[in-house]
Amino acid sequence: MTPTNERMQLLDLEPAASDFLAEALAGLSSQPRTLPSKFFYDERGSDLFQEICRLPEYYITRAETEILQLHVAELADSVGANAELVGFGTGAGVKTRMLLECLADPIAYVPIDISKQRLLDSAAALQLAMPHLEILPVCADYLQEIRLPQPSRKPAHVAVYFPGSTIGNLEPPVARDFLRRVNRLCGPSGGLIIGVDLQKPREIIELAYNDAAGVTAEFNRNVLVRANRELGADFVISQWRHRAIYNDQDGRIEMHLISESDQTVRLGGQQFHFTAGDKIITEYSYKHTVEGFTALAASAGFRLARTWTDPQQLFAVFHFTVPD
Ligand code: TRP
Repeated sequence: MTPTNERMQLLDLEPAASDFLAEALAGLSSQPRTLPSKFFYDERGSDLFQEICRLPEYYITRAETEILQLHVAELADSVGANAELVGFGTGAGVKTRMLLECLADPIAYVPIDISKQRLLDSAAALQLAMPHLEILPVCADYLQEIRLPQPSRKPAHVAVYFPGSTIGNLEPPVARDFLRRVNRLCGPSGGLIIGVDLQKPREIIELAYNDAAGVTAEFNRNVLVRANRELGADFVISQWRHRAIYNDQDGRIEMHLISESDQTVRLGGQQFHFTAGDKIITEYSYKHTVEGFTALAASAGFRLARTWTDPQQLFAVFHFTVPD
């Protein structure tokens, strides 16, 4: 445990640099070539992602926030009193704070995030705004199994909050395994509040991930910057172009880095050859339907309590419960 201030203790399970190297080598050796997307979120990446959330084309954050503005009281009511709220990758914490402020007597808040600085900054800001709330931050990759810290008061139930449609970054079978683990973590009478981006015309989605200002391009290429800095790779950043393409057969937008020339990249004692036009996939973002996602969650043991969508039906927030 690392002390953060008098009240807060950080549980530090940050992944090691060796994990990044092993995953990067495995990804670049596979077909199609990939780089692991969780490495987007170093300090620079987290800042860029916050900028993405404010872009005019990136409707996702605004639609989810609008749903909370309209329905947070109903959502809090559906979750119930004396909950321990566990936040998965809750980032800057704007939406989480809206929810926490409406919950009846929350027992504790446990934010889990892979970006240590973002986690600590947002936890400290939240503690200032809600001085009586027990906050137990955990720096970890929440895709791995995690043992949660114990709050000092016993909660009536655990509610996991997973906003931002990050579930869409997992391929459906991986998403199902992940939801099963969340289901066990919540336990009987627990719940899951999850934000999911919905299927919609390709143009809207492609614009959201190919913004005019090029912030998403810089965010995507930041993975290469980080590989150079932390793994000693020698990617020539200007030789990689960002492009996001919607695959409507699979209902997902695919983030690509496209090689601008024939080039060889050195990483971890290995060489990787790219011809002009070759691509590295950095992330998928699946778009779901309300029915499709409800079925996916049901296959992981969740029962639908309620859903809310924004007036334009861009995005959905679901509250699922675990049957006792
Ligand atoms: N979870 C976000 C999403 O799928 C992540 C994201 C937004 C992203 N823009 C991106 C990831 C661009 C890679 C590249 O919407």
